[in-house]
Amino acid sequence: MKLELFVVLVAVTCATSKPLNKATTGKNKLLLVSFDGFRWDYDQDVETPHFDQLVVDGVKAKYITPPMLTMTSPSHFTTITGRWVEDHEVVHNMMFNTKTNLKVPHKKTLTRSEWWDNGALPLWITAQDQGLKTGSFFFPGGGANYSGQAVNQVVVEEAGHPDDNETEWRQNIDTVMSWFTEEDLDLVTLYYGEPDNVGHAKGPDHPRRIEIIEQIDRTIGYLREAISRHGLNDSLNVIITSDHGMTTVKKRPEVDEIILNKYLNLLQHASFEILDYGGFGILTPRPGQEQKVYDALSNAPNLTVYKKSEMPESFHLAKSERLPPIVVVADLGFNLNSRFIVYVNKGDHGYHNGEMDMKTIFRAFGPNFKRNFLTEPFDSIHIYPLMCKLLQIEPAPHNGSLAVTEDMLQYNGESEQTKVGQMCRSSSF
Ligand SMILES: *[C@@H]1O[C@H](CO)[C@@H](O)[C@H](O)[C@H]1NC(C)=O
Ligand SMILES: *[C@@H]1O[C@H](CO)[C@@H](O)[C@H](O)[C@H]1NC(C)=O
Ligand SMILES: *[C@@H]1O[C@H](CO)[C@@H](O)[C@H](O)[C@H]1NC(C)=O
Ligand SMILES: *[C@@H]1O[C@H](CO)[C@@H](O)[C@H](O)[C@H]1NC(C)=O
Ligand SMILES: *[C@@H]1O[C@H](CO)[C@@H](O)[C@H](O)[C@H]1NC(C)=O
Ligand SMILES: [Zn+2]
Repeated sequence: MKLELFVVLVAVTCATSKPLNKATTGKNKLLLVSFDGFRWDYDQDVETPHFDQLVVDGVKAKYITPPMLTMTSPSHFTTITGRWVEDHEVVHNMMFNTKTNLKVPHKKTLTRSEWWDNGALPLWITAQDQGLKTGSFFFPGGGANYSGQAVNQVVVEEAGHPDDNETEWRQNIDTVMSWFTEEDLDLVTLYYGEPDNVGHAKGPDHPRRIEIIEQIDRTIGYLREAISRHGLNDSLNVIITSDHGMTTVKKRPEVDEIILNKYLNLLQHASFEILDYGGFGILTPRPGQEQKVYDALSNAPNLTVYKKSEMPESFHLAKSERLPPIVVVADLGFNLNSRFIVYVNKGDHGYHNGEMDMKTIFRAFGPNFKRNFLTEPFDSIHIYPLMCKLLQIEPAPHNGSLAVTEDMLQYNGESEQTKVGQMCRSSSF
């Protein structure tokens, strides 16, 4: 056991010490793009010439696994911090306080630093602390301050902003390109609210989902054109990923929806709850009621109820202070409803991250990436050390491992066979 751990640490240390190839003098820049709710297989039943070209020109993972909980803010913040949700504490899309019953809707949380700034430093800030310049266009977490420090260039998405305006999508790419060329930013994160929006409203099997993937594909084509037009082909690395997948919500008459109040008098037994929010729910039992709440919900069909303290280790949620004591995860496709069925979504997420429908995409291209390289699936937490490596900065403490993702990189003067033994530093960290 100890020996295994040692070997892993040494391998990571070796990887960090290897020089990346550089096409030009100076460091290469990095663009991280996220298309919200892009299920891993969404490009498989649609013509996607630009995505297909990316496979030839760069790296593709078969799929990647988001952290529990498979929600927008928790997952994006794991990608940008390399920390599990229990560490970064952005445990929900909504900001809440179990004592005051405060609940702030997702879009309104985007500029509430107290929701995001919990000690885990996102990549923007770590990069800025090491002399780089960064920007965030609509990316969750980009609008907050961290220990009083803001991201250099920020555009925050406002509530009610349309998610699917293709003209605007292209303008946003132009803005980001000018940040790279005119303001010399080193790292930019760019976020799109699709295909999540269409996935929720119409369901993943609807023709409208096909159309939005075609629109995203054209946008990839536009992005590549813009990169070329701005002379960034040889100095910009690009990662395209997402935060979770999407599944079809099961409804009557196929199934009975879950109404939790049928199993537990919520008002009597819980002092706080968010239970009408997709595939999972959270609740704080009234004092002394925890076992009773747990037992009652355990009788409900088509869901799993967890005590925070007894959650599977792979969830990496148990240590969270913010998460209420009870977490409920519905079986794939079932929605939780507290008192009656308010749910209008045709598609949803928030389910177990082991479900294939919750898996999402990873693509990358640029001067430091191999070409035509297919990787095995990995956890999204490992994107963070990869980004640090690409920017040549010292990572903040994190839970990822470069050893998982470094195979996709091109190293200076090296054959694709890595010679770990010769390059090791003697100490591990
Ligand atoms: C970030 O800090 C700046 C400077 O103190 C302040 O003007 C701004 O309102 C803060 N933004 C957020 C989202 O807290
Ligand atoms: C889409 O965005 C463009 C550019 O910002 C704007 O001119 C246009 O009015 C928008 N269209 C819609 C339908 O909102
Ligand atoms: C940049 O790369 C694209 C895609 O490979 C290529 O079509 C384009 O000609 C390149 N641009 C320049 C200026 O080399
Ligand atoms: C949901 O639970 C009911 C009652 O236990 C069970 O009969 C049914 O098979 C479950 N549905 C699914 C899709 O698992
Ligand atoms: C994740 O990383 C943080 C910071 O290094 C550390 O405190 C924590 O124990 C790690 N979590 C796991 C599960 O290893
Ligand atoms: Zn999302």
